[in-house]
Amino acid sequence: MTKTIVNSWNEWDPLRHVIVGRADDCHIPPAEPALDAKVPEDSDMRGQWGRRPQDTIDRANELLDGFAALLEGRGIRVDRPTPIDHAQPATTPDFHTDSQFGCMPPRDVLLTVGSEILEATMSYRCRWFEYLNYRPLMQRYFEEDPRFRHESAPKPRLTDADYHPDYLSDKIGNAKRLEWAAAKHFVTTEEEPLFDAADVLRFGRDLVVQHGFTTNLKGIEWLRRHFPDHRVHAVNFPGDPYPIHIDATFTPLRPGLILNNPQRRLPDAQRQMFERNGWDIVDAAQPAHNSPPPLCYSSTWLSMNVLVLDPKTVCVEASEVYQMEQMDKLGMNVIPVALRDAYAFGGGLHCCTADVYREGQCEDYFP
Ligand code: NVA
Repeated sequence: MTKTIVNSWNEWDPLRHVIVGRADDCHIPPAEPALDAKVPEDSDMRGQWGRRPQDTIDRANELLDGFAALLEGRGIRVDRPTPIDHAQPATTPDFHTDSQFGCMPPRDVLLTVGSEILEATMSYRCRWFEYLNYRPLMQRYFEEDPRFRHESAPKPRLTDADYHPDYLSDKIGNAKRLEWAAAKHFVTTEEEPLFDAADVLRFGRDLVVQHGFTTNLKGIEWLRRHFPDHRVHAVNFPGDPYPIHIDATFTPLRPGLILNNPQRRLPDAQRQMFERNGWDIVDAAQPAHNSPPPLCYSSTWLSMNVLVLDPKTVCVEASEVYQMEQMDKLGMNVIPVALRDAYAFGGGLHCCTADVYREGQCEDYFP
């Protein structure tokens, strides 16, 4: 009982231990308010739900296993979740949904800050029980590491009061969506604190949190009170008509350098903290693909959903040639990793992982 297992303060320090998700038994869940608001209006996913086809599950697992093996080959400890039965309906006193989502991607559920792993509230009903996939790992870390703090944010009720009814249409149109995003009118209301862990980026003493569909202002305020030694900054990206999860929008690579999605620029007022401290925010390269793969929730901007292994080394999806080229020019060593056929399961290389241990301590990058 003397070993530190859990320690990670930012997105770039040398990675030593990580969780990689699994595609087993992943489902396309039935319609529900927050999920529907995110499915693009022209998506092949509208109106269908059920267990994902087995051949796609097998292929995604092949890629995720390959990524895990690559990381292990570099001396990084890799843990995997234990899938629960995602075909089971989820029922609480407040809602019912006919299936769950899966155990991909862990980044959405688990937020590691120092020696703490915090289970997010989540904002989709189908993801309410998703933390259970990771409980065997949390129990193991609790036993192995006397400093590990296992925390769980208050489970939300997720009644209809949590969602704005004007988002419950598949005919809103892009112009209206952008107008709403600019006005910070998102699908979730301020009924109760809501956040997904993938809306949070860690910069040592500072946490940068996207206000959007999956994280509301009360969720950000909850994080602020939960992490009293941190500064918590709310950001939003008005160019994104479907704002969930910050990691295909804003990607820190190392101290002083962040990639920003050129279609979702951080507003000037919110750039000041970075610019004042000499950080560069550069436009990410264009994605290599014109459309996402079949049955995928995410945009083509998973191109910038990269996993930084240390401040000089980054894993980029192997077909994202422009992103790899840009990383090279930015002085990063690039490790290409095939993952595109797993995108449909909830995201790219950053999404499908959750930090357990990175070297380094809590630094103040924005004094
Ligand atoms: N908002 C994101 C999700 C990224 C993981 C997208 O571009 O689809």
